[in-house]
Amino acid sequence: IGKDILANGGRGLDAVEQVLRYFESDPKFNAGIGAVYTSAGTHEMDASIMNGKDLSAGAVAGVEHVKHPISLARLVMEKTSHVLLAYQGAEQFAEKMGIKLVPNSYFDTKLRYNQWQEYRKRLEEGKHGTVGCVVLDEYGNLAAGTSTGGMTNKMPGRIGDSPIIGAGTYADNNGSAVSGTGWGEKFIIHDVAFNMTALMKYKGYSLKKAANEIIHKILQPNDGGIIAVDKKGNYVMEFNTLGMFRGVATSSGKFEIKIWK
Ligand code: GLY
Ligand code: GLY
Repeated sequence: IGKDILANGGRGLDAVEQVLRYFESDPKFNAGIGAVYTSAGTHEMDASIMNGKDLSAGAVAGVEHVKHPISLARLVMEKTSHVLLAYQGAEQFAEKMGIKLVPNSYFDTKLRYNQWQEYRKRLEEGKHGTVGCVVLDEYGNLAAGTSTGGMTNKMPGRIGDSPIIGAGTYADNNGSAVSGTGWGEKFIIHDVAFNMTALMKYKGYSLKKAANEIIHKILQPNDGGIIAVDKKGNYVMEFNTLGMFRGVATSSGKFEIKIWK
């Protein structure tokens, strides 16, 4: 989807939004329909998007009735003077923008329900399935976006890293476009996505060296992973978990998906 948009002269932001809308529509991923359950048995979704050209960004947190949180994040970026809207305020804004709200049960799936029951038995939180997309477009601009249902059995009101610009998402043409997946609290504490750009801008690190530093030295085993691209088209998909569903497509014909190391 992203490749076709870019090949037809589309902007990175459009590619990010449309790829993430696809994931949000597929119940296999923890974003949109298929989002995980909170400890109250509901769904609360987070998403964000950022433009590396001018550092504009938009995000939503805790939305319960919006089919495509990534598109609402983009509207926050383009139609408000704010970066992050949450809960009822975000949904009132969605309605004002003409988005039809759906009942929270729209996001229910058997798979996530069963997972939730399993997690509750073991009293731990599940942290997998966040979706992200990072892009370098033909205009030389970077863009990044992330969308998630958060962590299984999270407390209602808990907001993860995905809607936090600098934690789960960041894009700067002079650094990198980054999207993170994993244990959100860790990504917030370590400002993972911004620190990728910081290491590149302030310490002159390559994309690969920065990713290695953050994923393997700052974060701990099993915390999660990132996808990132820089303005030269270098990319990394680095993680410290057992696996990470990931893929890459380029204008030179590379098309690859992977799960394990
Ligand atoms: N610095 C306070 C605020 O922007 O809400
Ligand atoms: N990384 C997704 C979350 O913690 O919510």
